[in-house]
Amino acid sequence: MQFSKSVERVIAFTVENASTTAERAAQSLAAKLVQVEGLKTFPVVAQKTMAILSDPDFEIAEVSRIVSEDPALGARVMRVANSAFYSRGMKVASFEQAVVRLGRIAVREVVAGAATMGLFPDSTGIGKAFRDHCAATASVAKTLARDLAPALEDGAFLTGLLHDIGKLLILSAGDPLYGRQDAAMLLTPDRTHLIELDELGFDHAALAGQILWHWQIPDPVPQIVAWHHQPALAYTEPVVDVVTAFLRIADHVEPMLAANEEHALSFIDLFAAGPDCRFTGVSADDLRRAWPQMIAARDESLSLFGENVARA
Ligand SMILES: [Fe+2]
Ligand SMILES: [Fe+2]
Repeated sequence: MQFSKSVERVIAFTVENASTTAERAAQSLAAKLVQVEGLKTFPVVAQKTMAILSDPDFEIAEVSRIVSEDPALGARVMRVANSAFYSRGMKVASFEQAVVRLGRIAVREVVAGAATMGLFPDSTGIGKAFRDHCAATASVAKTLARDLAPALEDGAFLTGLLHDIGKLLILSAGDPLYGRQDAAMLLTPDRTHLIELDELGFDHAALAGQILWHWQIPDPVPQIVAWHHQPALAYTEPVVDVVTAFLRIADHVEPMLAANEEHALSFIDLFAAGPDCRFTGVSADDLRRAWPQMIAARDESLSLFGENVARA
């Protein structure tokens, strides 16, 4: 897709959702998109692999040959494929085996996730905190979906992994915005996008959604990422609605997994009464039951994507 087309879509989208500052916001977002595009190029091999895997009649040998052109990506893919999330105790030794064992959709998700996280290998400070939160949210969303809505499990990991990459993109573009904010506030769910809207005219969700479309990350992932701070909008769109709701639950739960038991329990009761849990039917009992698995999954995810292993 031509990048100018993507920018046109931003402007169309923003004007459709017009506010008094819509035009300025669209121009500001378009300018940031062009800047970010110059800084981060999605790996061609990953893009080709995902395109082939979007065809149900793909040939394993062809995918395998293309992945072998980017050994670093291949290594990252194998690392994720052999993690507890995907392998379920049965390790795979080759990319072909990964495709057979995990299936076409899951491998496409792993390739997209591994390639995207590989774009941010040197995150430090608040950037590392953002990246860790993405990795941990992915595992929490997948664990919850596996337990409560298995049909959504495939999409949950990737949307969680990518949901806040807009913040990493804003950071890598050298924007000083986050440096002026309190770090604890930046890591509080549903807060940072309000500051971004105020100061930049757009938020990290809209920026990431557009970039993911441009990188040809499969639908509906870009739309879910774009709307993850606009539940009122997302909850009117079939398919997008329920995956967004699980993502939002994981987004709020993830920071609480490190809290002490008393704090966590009072959070669960309060949060389960809120709109995201009500929309999906996730109860306080569901969250309490899944809590230990979510903690274990979070640890696994941080060891996969934290500590600059995205470089591996
Ligand atoms: Fe976000
Ligand atoms: Fe988040």
